[in-house]
Amino acid sequence: MSNSYIYVGKLSQVIWLIEFALFSISNELTAALSLNLPKLIFTSTQRRLILECNMFRFCKLALLATAVATLSPVGEAVAATLTGAPPIVIGHRGASGYRPEHTLEAYRLAIELGADYIEPDVVSTKDGVLVARHENEISGTTDVASRPEFADRKTTKVIDGVEVEGWFTEDFTLAEIKTLRAKERLPQLRGTEYDGLYEVPTLQEVIDLAKQKSAETGRTIGIYPETKHPSYFDSIGLSLEEPLVELLSTNGYTDADDAVFIQSFEVSNLLNLAQLTNLPLVQLFGGANAQPYDFVLNGDSRTYGNLTAPTELSNIADYASGIGPSKRLIVPTGEDGQLLEPTTLVSDAHAAGLLVHPYTFRNEDVFLAPDYNGNPELEYEQFFKLGVDGVFSDNPDTAVAVRNRVAGDSNAQVPEPGSFLAFGVLPVAELLRRHKAQKV
Ligand code: G3P
Ligand code: CA
Repeated sequence: MSNSYIYVGKLSQVIWLIEFALFSISNELTAALSLNLPKLIFTSTQRRLILECNMFRFCKLALLATAVATLSPVGEAVAATLTGAPPIVIGHRGASGYRPEHTLEAYRLAIELGADYIEPDVVSTKDGVLVARHENEISGTTDVASRPEFADRKTTKVIDGVEVEGWFTEDFTLAEIKTLRAKERLPQLRGTEYDGLYEVPTLQEVIDLAKQKSAETGRTIGIYPETKHPSYFDSIGLSLEEPLVELLSTNGYTDADDAVFIQSFEVSNLLNLAQLTNLPLVQLFGGANAQPYDFVLNGDSRTYGNLTAPTELSNIADYASGIGPSKRLIVPTGEDGQLLEPTTLVSDAHAAGLLVHPYTFRNEDVFLAPDYNGNPELEYEQFFKLGVDGVFSDNPDTAVAVRNRVAGDSNAQVPEPGSFLAFGVLPVAELLRRHKAQKV
C-alpha cells in the first residue's frame, strides 16, 4: 500500500546510518590519536591520512544530518501534492453520507464538517435554470413519482445512449421543481429520516450558501460544479456551459485563482468552457474502458483508460487544471476486489502539471475494498500518501480528520530517490570537492 520508493529511501538511510556508526568509531579513535600523539610520531603521509579521516568524519556528519532529517517523517510518509499544499476535501453532492444529496442541508453540513469545496452536479430546468441534481431523471432523488399532478410527465428518453424512464428536469419549470422534495438515493444504506424535508436547490442557492458560510466561518468555501450530460443538454437547446459561466461570473467567479473548479466527464464541453472562462477546469475520468460520451458521438474510440497516458495528460493540461479520476484508475482492484499496486497516474498527472482529485470516497463497508477491513480511514490514508491533491467525499468529516492527521499542516513529504541523493550525496560530494581544492 505504500510507495516503493519509500522503502528504497528507508534502506539507503539505514545503510548510511550503520556505515556512519562504524566510521565514526574508527574516526574518533584516529582523531583521539592525532590529538594525543606529537607531530613527530607521524609521518606527513600519516598526518594527511588523519586529516582526510577528520574531513571524512565531517562528511559523515552531513550524511547523518540528512539521514536523520529524512528518516524521521517516513512513518507518516506523504508523497508531494502538485503545489505542496495539503489536499482539499470536496463535499461530494454535499455531505451525502449523512443527508439527501444535492440539498442545501447536505451542503451546509459538508461545510460544517470541514469541507473546503462543495460539489453540485448541475442540470437544466425547462426554463433554463441550473439546479443541483446528479441526473436529469429525478425519480431516484425526489418525490416526483408520488406526485399525481406530475404523473403525465413520466416518459422514456435516451440519455447518453441509454434508455431511461422517468421524470426529467428539462420537462419542469423551476417553479414546478421547487414543489418537489428531496429523498435519499440509498435508503437501505442511509435511511429515510430526512426524506421530504428539503427542496432541490438552484446553483445560485448553492453559491449563496458557500458565500454565507465563508463569511461565517472565515474559511473560503469553494464550489465545484459538474456539468451533467452536456451533449444531451446541447441537443435539446438547453446548453449548460453559457448559463453556468454567466452565473459564476455574476457571482464574481471569473479568475483562475478563484475558489471554483468546473468539471465534466465529456471533453468537448470543457474545450468550449476553456474559451468562455479563465476558471480552472477539471477533466473527469470514468472507468478505464468507458468513453466520454462526446467521443462516442464523434466516433473517437479513445477510452478514459487511454486518456491516462502521459501524452494525453499533456494535452489535457492545455485546457484543464486537473483531472478527477475514478479511484480505481489510481488504485486498481483485482477480480475479488483486492487492492492492486497503484498506477503511476498521480505522478504522471503531476508531471503534466495537473491536479488530481479522485472520486468517490464513502465510509460504508459496501463501498470499501476488503483490504481496508471496514476502516475508511485506511483508504483516505493510502490516497493522501500517494500525493492526491484532493478527494471527493460523501463523509467530509472522515476525510478532513485523516487529511489533517496525514497531510494537513505540514504536508510532510518524503523525498524521492533522486531528491534524497540530491540532499545526501551531493553536499558530501561538494565538501570533498572543496577539500580537494584546498589541498591543491
Ligand atoms: O464529479 C466527481 C464525481 O462526482 C463523479 O461522479 O457520478 O458522482 O458525479 P458522480
Ligand atoms: Ca459529480
